[in-house]
Amino acid sequence: MTNIVLTGFMGTGKSSVGKLLARRLGYRFIDLDEMIVSQQKVSINEIFEKYGERHFRTLEEEAVRSISEHRGLVVSTGGGAVISPQNRDMFRRNGLIVNLTASPEVILERLAQDEGRPLLKRSKDIATIDGLMKERESFYSDADIRIDTSWKKLEDVALEIIAFLEGRN
Ligand code: S3P
Repeated sequence: MTNIVLTGFMGTGKSSVGKLLARRLGYRFIDLDEMIVSQQKVSINEIFEKYGERHFRTLEEEAVRSISEHRGLVVSTGGGAVISPQNRDMFRRNGLIVNLTASPEVILERLAQDEGRPLLKRSKDIATIDGLMKERESFYSDADIRIDTSWKKLEDVALEIIAFLEGRN
């Protein structure tokens, strides 16, 4: 039973799709950001503000390492988890990688009221989203399947992933 690792930019639906997928497959769902928050007992915003992005990335790598021995998981990763070569290695070694995408316009709309994304705190606009997305594109594209969630119901995205899994077996 391999793990299913959901990667993708902020606001592409990883956590929501992950929960639906885990429920349907009877897998355990792990949200890496939630894991970090519950371990550190502070919000992601606070971690970035008080200790900086580098520290967050270290915590993120630790969280990825701590789940790497487990199987039968659906893992929702933070949008920047793929930046780390160690994380990418671990995702590859014990998981099927599903990359969720969405257009910058849709992401902006989905995150318009959201205050929990420190990287978009200073400027939440198309140019910032597009720039960061392009920087990370080579990491996101290293996936077994990519699904554009822009105009899809999250339930349908989960079903699409299940159909893909069935096709592989
Ligand atoms: C980040 C994405 C966030 C969270 C942190 C950094 C990023 O997760 O890990 O704010 O670098 O893209 P989501 O993708 O769940 O929003």
